[in-house]
This record gives sequence, structure tokens and C-alpha cells, in this order.
Amino acid sequence: MTNPMLAAAAHAIASARHVVAMTGAGLSAESGIPTFRGDDGLWTKFGEPRMDGYQNFLKDPKGWWTREVTHTQDPYVLELRSALEQAQPNPAHHALVGLERLDVLKATVSQNVDGLEERAGLTRLIEIHGNRSKFRCLGCGLRTPRGTFVPPRELPPPCAQCGGIVKYDSVMFGEPIPPDRMAAAQTEIDRADCILAIGTSGTVRPASGLAWIAHAAGATIIEINPNETRMTPIASLSVRAKAVDALPELLGVLSNVVRG
Ligand code: APR
Repeated sequence: MTNPMLAAAAHAIASARHVVAMTGAGLSAESGIPTFRGDDGLWTKFGEPRMDGYQNFLKDPKGWWTREVTHTQDPYVLELRSALEQAQPNPAHHALVGLERLDVLKATVSQNVDGLEERAGLTRLIEIHGNRSKFRCLGCGLRTPRGTFVPPRELPPPCAQCGGIVKYDSVMFGEPIPPDRMAAAQTEIDRADCILAIGTSGTVRPASGLAWIAHAAGATIIEINPNETRMTPIASLSVRAKAVDALPELLGVLSNVVRG
């Protein structure tokens, strides 16, 4: 065990009743997907995007879809998209799956839209910001796989179930978290006595606010992050390491504990 904080984190997790992971962009950093904030973050490079993207979409969904199919979106979208399309799950994602299979990890609330946690095999996963590989209807909420993207004949594409407006499942800036996702996340947070915050700056509400709600209810907050974050002041333990290094080690320790 090289990192004493990791030993303490493993002990805290093993002693907890209901551990919920809250993941952010740092979990996918080693999959080649840029984070948003920090030195080489997308927002650091391109500036924080406008917070009214969703309102603009609703004003002119056809115009939004036209820009989408003609690839004339914002530069940060094009940079993020090329990284997303090549990304594969990394050892941190696979370690989370191992923790779920040990039944040490009860659920994962992810802020990531890259779909890598799902592809790695997480099943008790709540993608609170959506999943870029899916479409979602704003009318009935139906989610459908995006598959190999074929520009829809009709813009905006109508929902096959209700004829409503379809958008990507990824939550846009200014868009409310889909109620089903928020309810599922809240249920897990209400049960949690330990939150494992992995690779998130704890900046964006309401997602990151869930950690404060858990903390106020007495949950232990453990963060895995090379840097200090807004969550650091409420964290009982801060493991200053990359997720790709810390999570496989944590899985190794907890596997021995669980097997006895
Ligand atoms: N391992 C663990 N953490 C890392 C790593 C790594 N290898 N590399 C960077 N980090 C940490 C950074 O220190 C930072 O605290 O990951 C965090 C990434 O923070 P953000 O870029 O703010 O990403 P996130 O917290 O997921 O942002 C939340 O903001 O813009 C919205 O929708 C976007 O879902 C995103 C939300």
C-alpha cells in the first residue's frame, strides 16, 4: 500500500453500509477525454459555454439540428466529440465495475455523458447528465440508442412513440436534469452513508450539490482527485491520486477484505 490515505479510504468504504460513487470528467481523463476545468480543461481553453443552450434549442430545434447535421457546432463541441468517439473505458472504469460486483459499490451517479461507465459494465448507474450515445424525446422521455448517426430526414427528428421533439440525451446547459434521473440519484443519495467523489471539481449544481446533501445527512465524503476541489472542505478523506491509479488499488484492497 503506497498511499496511506488510500488505506484509510478502503477502511471507511469497507465499514460503510451504502457506498455511492459520484463521478466526473477526471474518471475519463485517461481515456483521452478532456476535463472541463483545470489547466487543460475545455472551458479553460474555450471559456465556459453560455448557460442558455437549452433555451436556444427550444426556440429553434430545426436550426439546432441543421447546424448539427452540417457540423457547424461550437469548436469545443467538435473537439470534445472527436475525443469521445475514440474513447475506450480505462482501468478506473473497470475497477468501478469490480467494486460494484463485490457489492461494495451500491450505485454510481455520473456527471459524464461519455457512456464509458455503461460500456465498462456498470449496471447500477445513474447518468444524471445523460448519455451521448442516446436520443431522448422531450415529449414522452423515450430514450433510444443513437447507433451510427444517420442525419434524420426530418428536422427536428420526431419521436417514434409520441411525435415529440427528439434531442441527444446529453443534458444541455440550462436544461433541467430529467426527472427520472434526478429521482433515482436522490434515492441513492438518501441511502448513502459514504460518497466516493471521483474526478469531479464539485462545481456544477444540482449534480454536485448531492454530495453536500449526503454530507449534511452525516455521510462520509471521500474524494479521489489529484487536486483540491470545492468538495475538499467537506471530505473526510482526500486521496490525492489519479482515478486510474487509485481505483484499481482500492479494488485490490477491498477484494481481500471482502474475501476475508
Ligand atoms: N483522475 C482523477 N481526477 C482527475 C484526473 C484524473 N486523472 N484528472 C483531472 N482530474 C480532476 C480535476 O482535478 C478536476 O477536479 O477531475 C476534475 C474535473 O473537473 P471538471 O473538469 O469540472 O469536470 P466535472 O466536475 O465532471 O464537471 C461537472 O460540468 O460543464 C459541466 O456538464 C459538465 O458534467 C460536467 C460538469
